Amino acid sequence: MLKIWFLRLAAIYFVIGVSFGYVMSVTENFVLMPVHAHINLLGWVSMALFGLIYFAWPGAATTRLAKAHFTLYNIGLPIMMVGLSLFLEGTRQAGPVIGLGATLVVVAILCFTINLFRQVKA
Ligand code: HEM
Repeated sequence: MLKIWFLRLAAIYFVIGVSFGYVMSVTENFVLMPVHAHINLLGWVSMALFGLIYFAWPGAATTRLAKAHFTLYNIGLPIMMVGLSLFLEGTRQAGPVIGLGATLVVVAILCFTINLFRQVKA
């Protein structure tokens, strides 16, 4: 189930990411360009890869580390993106919000990496 949700959420992030790109293009306002880039790369590309990797190695998708990876990543990424949007729009106090979200995302990626080394073998 976790692998399917990674793919579903990746597709949703893809829609959001390209929508940011579309709005930036038509309004010629590029202030939120880093948000667009991170939603597309951390949201769409990375999450689609997580989903496909968990499909290729189903055993890796059932561990506690995989659940921690999924949960922390999907709490951290929206927090980071909202914080980054606020910061770029001028709310400088949003810096710690970015830090909180980024910390959760990095810890999630550490869980993914440890899980991968333990579960993905030739
Ligand atoms: C309909 C789809 C998309 C549109 C309309 C779009 C539009 C844009 C625009 C207008 C910029 C700003 C360019 C600039 O000011 O230099 C940009 C930057 C960027 N986009 Fe997209 N984009 C799309 C899809 C994607 C996807 C799928 C990805 C990644 C998977 C992506 C990654 C990036 C990155 C990394 C940057 C920053 C580039 C830099 O720093 O020079 N974009 N995009």
